[in-house]
Amino acid sequence: MSVITQTQALDVPSAILKRRSIKTFKSDPIAPELLKQLVELTVAAPSSFNIQDWQIILVQDEAQKAALSAASWNQQQIIQAPVTFVFAADPKAGEQDLTPVYERALETGAWNEGTVNYFKNAIPQFQASLGDKQREYAIKDAIIAATHLVLAAESLGLSTCFMNGWIEDQVKAVIGASEDPDLAIAVLVPVGYAAEPRLNPGRLPLSANVSVDRIGNPYQG
Ligand SMILES: Cc1cc2nc3c(=O)[nH]c(=O)nc-3n(C[C@H](O)[C@H](O)[C@H](O)COP(=O)(O)O)c2cc1C
Repeated sequence: MSVITQTQALDVPSAILKRRSIKTFKSDPIAPELLKQLVELTVAAPSSFNIQDWQIILVQDEAQKAALSAASWNQQQIIQAPVTFVFAADPKAGEQDLTPVYERALETGAWNEGTVNYFKNAIPQFQASLGDKQREYAIKDAIIAATHLVLAAESLGLSTCFMNGWIEDQVKAVIGASEDPDLAIAVLVPVGYAAEPRLNPGRLPLSANVSVDRIGNPYQG
């Protein structure tokens, strides 16, 4: 993957600080090669055991966008933005055949046969030990991928908005996942070109929610 240089990519600290949750987007399309770059940077995110237990759906079709917006309390960002990434999480991914994951890591040389054999035991054991937290753990991975998307988009001149305001069953129906009882929706992220400036609503002082060693021992900076 090569970084597209039509805009100077922002460095990570600058992208973090410049990012705002954008509520109004232009209808301008995202060039296909830029969208592909965003997708590749999104799935470059880490995941537990590298199982990549997300399903990412790029909602671009006008009728699909309208249905997804309706499933999201009619939030208009989804209609306006050229694409909304739906981040779904598969809590059962770790119990499925992970051969493609192992083969890829053997190819790159990152893992050897010993590592793979260890994971063949460890992953099912770990997944089983999670019990009813499997869904929560899969959602963690999907949210980390969504965060990669948001910062990569900002770096490359695009804007985003994390979205929690939707009804899960309705979103699942829109993406064609109603028949999968396990699949969880983690977050929605419209991506496009901002049609508004938006100010930073600010953050609490560090001492409010950053502690040293134990909670309640505020970090003073
Ligand atoms: C997990 C999550 C869910 C959110 N859901 C929505 C949403 O459904 N609709 C919306 O307009 N903004 C949503 N937001 C945006 C927040 O309102 C916004 O991040 C917050 O006000 C801070 O503003 P900033 O992102 O510009 O720093 C969400 C943010 C996060 C992190």
